[in-house]
Amino acid sequence: MSQTREVSCPVRTVIVPAAGLGTRFLPATKSVPKELLPVVDTPGIELIAEEASALGASRLAIVTAARKAGVLGYFHTDEQLEHALENKGDSATLARVRRAASLVEPVAIMQDEPLGLGHAVGLAEAVLDDDEDVVAVMLPDDLVLPMGVMETMAQVRREYGGSVLCAFDVPRDEVSNYGVFEIAETDTGSVKRVLGMVEKPVVEDAPSTFVAAGRYLLDRQIFTALKEITPGKGGELQLTDAIELLIEQGHPVHIVVHDGSRHDLGNPGGFIRACVDFGLQHPDYQLGLRRYLRQRLAEEND
Ligand code: G1P
Repeated sequence: MSQTREVSCPVRTVIVPAAGLGTRFLPATKSVPKELLPVVDTPGIELIAEEASALGASRLAIVTAARKAGVLGYFHTDEQLEHALENKGDSATLARVRRAASLVEPVAIMQDEPLGLGHAVGLAEAVLDDDEDVVAVMLPDDLVLPMGVMETMAQVRREYGGSVLCAFDVPRDEVSNYGVFEIAETDTGSVKRVLGMVEKPVVEDAPSTFVAAGRYLLDRQIFTALKEITPGKGGELQLTDAIELLIEQGHPVHIVVHDGSRHDLGNPGGFIRACVDFGLQHPDYQLGLRRYLRQRLAEEND
C-alpha cells in the first residue's frame, strides 16, 4: 500500500457488533433485527454503512448471529425487486434500494454465543488484511450526530498514535450504563488522554463523567489484548477491559469529547427521538412533521 493511500484512507474495516437479541425492542425484534428498524426510511445498519463509507472504509465486518440473517441480506441484490422497479421506471427508488451495497462490502462473522462485546470484536480479526494496523468499531445502537466524529478521531490518531475513542460527558447519575474514562487534559480541550477505563462502575467509583459512546478507532494491538483478558462485568469479555490493558501496557489512548448528540437506537425511547430528528431534516416529511409536533405539543400544554 502506498504512503499516500495510508494517509488518505487509514481505516479499511469497520467492525459492527450486531449479534444481540434486541431484548429492549421486543416483541418487534422477534422477527426483525433491530439494525433493520428504519430511522424514518433508512435502517440503522445503512446509517452505519454510510458513516463507514464517509470515513473511507470499504469493508463492513458485521458480527452477527444465525437468527439475524436479514442484516446481511439487506446488502444482497434482489433482482426481482430491481427488475420490477426498472419496469416501472422508478429510478429514484431503485437507487435507494441499491445504495447500501454500493457504500461498503459487507462480510458476515458469526458469533454463536453471547460472550460479550470484546468477544465479538475479537472475532473480526479473521477478516482483516495482514497490513491493516488500525480498525474502527461502530456500535449500531449508538447514533452519534452530527456524523463525522470518526474523521476527527483519525486526525487525533495521526497526531498521538495508538487508539482513539469517542466520548460524551454525561450526568453523573448515568455513568453506570457506560464504559467510563479516567482522563488527563491535553492542550486541546476536546481531546483528552485516557489513564484508565472501567466498564459500568457504580456512581461512587466512576473516575469521571466522560463515557464511551459507540465509536472506537483501535490499534491492531487490541486483538492481542482481547486474547489476554478474562470475563469482566456481567461475566462477559469486555472491550473496555482490553482497552484498559492496552493503557496498562503503555499504549496511547485518547478520547475526542463529541460536541453533538447521541441517540440509543436499541430502545424505543431513543429510537423515537432519532426518528423525530431525522424526520425534521427530511425534505419530504419536515414541514408536515413540524406542523404536527407544534400542534400536538400545544394540545399537551392545554
Ligand atoms: C457498550 C460498551 C460500553 C459503552 C456503550 C456505549 O455497552 O460496553 O463501554 O459505553 O456500549 O453505548 P452496552 O451498551 O452494549 O451494554
